[in-house]
Amino acid sequence: MLEINNVSKTFKRGSEEFVALNDVTLKINKGDYVSVTGPSGSGKSTLLNVIGGLIHPDSGKILYQGESIYDQNGKYLNVYRKRAVGFMFQQFHLMPYLTVIENIRLSCFEKSHGTAISDYLEKFSLVEVKNKYPSDLSVGEKQRAAFIRAIISDPELLLADEPTGNLDPRNSGILMSLIGEYHKNGGTVMLVSHDPVASKYSNLNISIEFGRI
Ligand SMILES: Nc1ncnc2c1ncn2[C@@H]1O[C@H](COP(=O)(O)OP(=O)(O)O)[C@@H](O)[C@H]1O
Ligand SMILES: [Mg+2]
Repeated sequence: MLEINNVSKTFKRGSEEFVALNDVTLKINKGDYVSVTGPSGSGKSTLLNVIGGLIHPDSGKILYQGESIYDQNGKYLNVYRKRAVGFMFQQFHLMPYLTVIENIRLSCFEKSHGTAISDYLEKFSLVEVKNKYPSDLSVGEKQRAAFIRAIISDPELLLADEPTGNLDPRNSGILMSLIGEYHKNGGTVMLVSHDPVASKYSNLNISIEFGRI
């Protein structure tokens, strides 16, 4: 489904250079559950962002269903980000001026997505807070809302960057089982996490150090 071939990325800040990815090659098959670990600053987030169509690598290619995602016309990446991938972040990245349900609607672009919202709200115990703003939610509620926003449009690939990093053990457990369920229903997962539970679900564990796998 996805091939990451010889991908490198260096960030420059003033005269300083930070090598985030150094010749990374990796294959992700449909239905894989990939767990990514590594020390802070090792390149984990950059890898997810490059795969998600957010950061152009300096060299190398990301092939999605055989197509190099950064070598298509301008429209391709927009469609890829919208249809192929769902994102989750440690800081949730919910829009502060939108309610829970409005945040989720941001990811809905077909009628069927919109009609699925109430089922998800029910299932994830968010019905009572659906008209609240993120600042009025508990961290667990925020992360579940962010999870629904990530998967409401049925993306093939869920990219989750330390999504349990701010959660207590109970909420981490809830979120990990929701991600596990998305995977069981055919989704492909790439998860950056230090939670040992991640390796219980994953079939591929990669560890990154200094931008190398
Ligand atoms: N936008 C950026 N500008 C400058 N340096 C960056 C940027 N993003 C990441 N880096 C640097 O790239 C390296 C890898 O970062 P990152 O992928 O965020 O690592 P991790 O997620 O494993 O903590 C680090 O040295 C970091 O400082
Ligand atoms: Mg990171």
